[in-house]
Amino acid sequence: MQMYDIIMKKRNGQTLSKEEIYHFIDEYTRGNIPDYQVSALMMAIFFRGMDRQETVDLTMAMAHSGDVIDLSDIPGIKCDKHSTGGVGDKTTLSLIPMVVSCGCRVAKMSGRGLGHTGGTIDKLESFPGFSTSISEEQFKSQVRGIGVSVMGQTADLAPADKKLYALRDVTATVDNMSLIASSIMSKKLASGADAIVLDVKCGSGAFMKSLDDARGLARAMVDIGKGAGRRTMAVISDMDQPLGRAVGNAIEVREAIDTLMGKGPEDFTELCMQLGSRMLLMSDVCGSLDEARQVLKESISSGRALDTLAAFVKAQGGDDSYVYDPARLKIADRVTEIKAERDGYISHIECDEIGMVSLTLGGGRETKESDIDLSVGLILNKKVGDHVSAGDTIATIYASDPDKEKAAISRFAGTYLYSDDKPADRSIIIDTVD
Ligand code: URA
Repeated sequence: MQMYDIIMKKRNGQTLSKEEIYHFIDEYTRGNIPDYQVSALMMAIFFRGMDRQETVDLTMAMAHSGDVIDLSDIPGIKCDKHSTGGVGDKTTLSLIPMVVSCGCRVAKMSGRGLGHTGGTIDKLESFPGFSTSISEEQFKSQVRGIGVSVMGQTADLAPADKKLYALRDVTATVDNMSLIASSIMSKKLASGADAIVLDVKCGSGAFMKSLDDARGLARAMVDIGKGAGRRTMAVISDMDQPLGRAVGNAIEVREAIDTLMGKGPEDFTELCMQLGSRMLLMSDVCGSLDEARQVLKESISSGRALDTLAAFVKAQGGDDSYVYDPARLKIADRVTEIKAERDGYISHIECDEIGMVSLTLGGGRETKESDIDLSVGLILNKKVGDHVSAGDTIATIYASDPDKEKAAISRFAGTYLYSDDKPADRSIIIDTVD
């Protein structure tokens, strides 16, 4: 089988066979196909697309390109959740303790962030001592013991995706539905969960800007998961403005803890309830969404979810006293309040740009090698639909470096739009796909 023929076939709009897809993935992972040929194939796929079967074959080939974690010796259904990413997305930090404290088991592989803020691992490292560099043995025994474990993605998990994603990143071929769906699902399938709840973000701060695209991606991922025998469903949630009020790393961890104390922002709390009730349903912990919602509410009011976060932080070497006293999580001390320019309603927030403000402060990575400042970030004191008077504080920036602070303040300008009329109310959940 020749790579040249595979490229030409896709360039001419034909369908690739399972054998052709497995051949190029296996040989590329082994280093036997040069990047320039795979780049050409990615571009052909970008323009010609892949059908459902090709997408499933690509996913399975990538999922089996390295280690596949076997969680079958841990009793019960192991459930995972994945978000396609957005600004202020600290969902894992609150959601996982909530569902685990209700009886769900979560064995999760997470990554570091690239772009506007850190990923889940970066945020968890705000707890002094916390580590996700744990062995597979500890990973599994922790899930058996306290019901939850988060491990850094190993180099051997879906290595084909790792190589392909890096290549797509520099050849302008990331934003193709089949390629995104297969990339995400290959890692989820290799991580071994029996049930997967997907949070597909939609809006100006997400990969998927339109609802049609978000639905398409959700459908593709759900089909792949089900095709591989895993219980899978997706929620499409709003990312036209940042989630919650905090954007950064330690500052998001504080907000996640506030949420577990029952004091979280409304949109973020609701998203955790919606995703959490589906996780409890898919894990057979609850029989209906209404029952699951009640159980989740009780996990917060009783303090059980907070205790679960503390147990999880402690099990992975972190200082759990911070969970009960989040004000100790270090936040940068150069504080700037941004004021409303006029009276009116906040009609829109440039979500991507708010992410870039956090990146400018040093809260995200420009390249995989960049260091990240966990203490910087911002609080959005006002969000879409809020009424303000000129001079009210709309956002507060926390910086640790004067030059970055200056750059962040100028980047913030123009991110808030105003209107005289109240904008229509928005719901955090836009749709579900199962
Ligand atoms: N996240 C992934 O893991 N892969 C993609 O292709 C896009 C987002």
